[in-house]
Amino acid sequence: MNLLIHPTQELFGSTAVPGDKSISHRAAMFAALAEGRSHVRNFLPGGDCQATLGVLRGLGVAIEEISPSELSITGVGLHGLHEPAAPLDCVNSGTAMRLLAGLLAGQPFFSVLSGSSQLVKRPMGRVVEPLRQMGALIHGRQGGRLAPLAVQGTRLHGIDYTLPVASAQVKSALLLAGLYSDGLAIVRQPGPARDHTERMLAAMGAPIQTLGLVAISERPKQPLTPLDIAVPGDISSAAFLLAAGLLVPQSHLTITGVGVNPTRTGILDILQMMGANLRLENERDEAGEPVADLVVQHADLHGIEISGDLIVRAIDELPVLAVLATQAHGRTLVRDAAELRVKETDRIATVAAELHKLGAQVEERPDGFVIDGPVTLRSAPVWSHGDHRLAMALAVAGMVASGPVLVEEAACVSDSFPGFERVLQVLGVEMEDG
Ligand code: S3P
Repeated sequence: MNLLIHPTQELFGSTAVPGDKSISHRAAMFAALAEGRSHVRNFLPGGDCQATLGVLRGLGVAIEEISPSELSITGVGLHGLHEPAAPLDCVNSGTAMRLLAGLLAGQPFFSVLSGSSQLVKRPMGRVVEPLRQMGALIHGRQGGRLAPLAVQGTRLHGIDYTLPVASAQVKSALLLAGLYSDGLAIVRQPGPARDHTERMLAAMGAPIQTLGLVAISERPKQPLTPLDIAVPGDISSAAFLLAAGLLVPQSHLTITGVGVNPTRTGILDILQMMGANLRLENERDEAGEPVADLVVQHADLHGIEISGDLIVRAIDELPVLAVLATQAHGRTLVRDAAELRVKETDRIATVAAELHKLGAQVEERPDGFVIDGPVTLRSAPVWSHGDHRLAMALAVAGMVASGPVLVEEAACVSDSFPGFERVLQVLGVEMEDG
């Protein structure tokens, strides 16, 4: 599928975005470990989370899809997973593979985690290495640095580990392994990686503690209680609509029910620093996660410097931030973001390559980029590289280009934002798909 985006004059209206990807993965996995039936509403029916459901079914978990976004999951208990008869396909999902590596390391059976040609290129040593320090028996290509991963479940012991990079996926893998280990799993973070695992497991009665940037898990003495939750809207998906509302003149948008966990709101801070007209309304709490409606209006933006913890709290939003920076007055400098190079694609290289095609002034740096604006983007075909966040960022660029922008290979948007095209059309974007 390609998306042809036309220059857009005005965006107006109110919409929700699909459920948070990180929280949806965790809800499915942790519900599988509970004793009893969990009810999950607003589950993200995107490709990545569907992959997690497929893996859980392969491990013997019964999942009823009441609708694509409403699940009834019959938990098998902490010790009820079954040895899978076939490799477990994580498709494109790094979150699925890394969290599952931690979960499977302490099970009394053998399993293999595999995935798409994109996923088997992404670094797995960051999770395999500390799990091996806990006693895990995991093999993979290149000494365990790349999937497929073969996991021979075994008895684990505790660990006191300092993450070399702030990664919620690695933190979560170790905390999950800690539920099956003989000692504590103590994970020290260099920055505030998203904490959905800690919040959700604690809400289910698991012995999880957090002390500042340290998270600790241990073997539970009681079963996990089932979940009854509505997954908040994904702020990483909302970011594309916020960007569109800011860039397209005369826009006024409300995005309802968005998760605003402070480990995820770096993009809101960044937008405000750039001069955005943005406010939170109707702030509330759902299933231990803060939620709000986001209201945005068109504004003239200016360039800023971003580094450190702000990068950790906005890592998935940096592709669309790059598009915003092309329209902001002055220079935007992104540092400390080398992690972008190991996402679904090397997002420093792919963002720079595609924005260059539109005439943007982007300079690649080893750990980020420098963008000078404002520049009138031109009409040109661009390529998603099979990366959902790049496809959606380029669609936003198309709304403010001087002529139509064709985003090629855009079906990947449904990895995290199924229905993206429909939402854009309802808000007033002039576009065609096909
Ligand atoms: C995620 C953590 C982040 C993020 C990814 C989802 C998660 O990755 O980029 O999209 O759900 O834990 P890292 O943990 O590798 O930083």
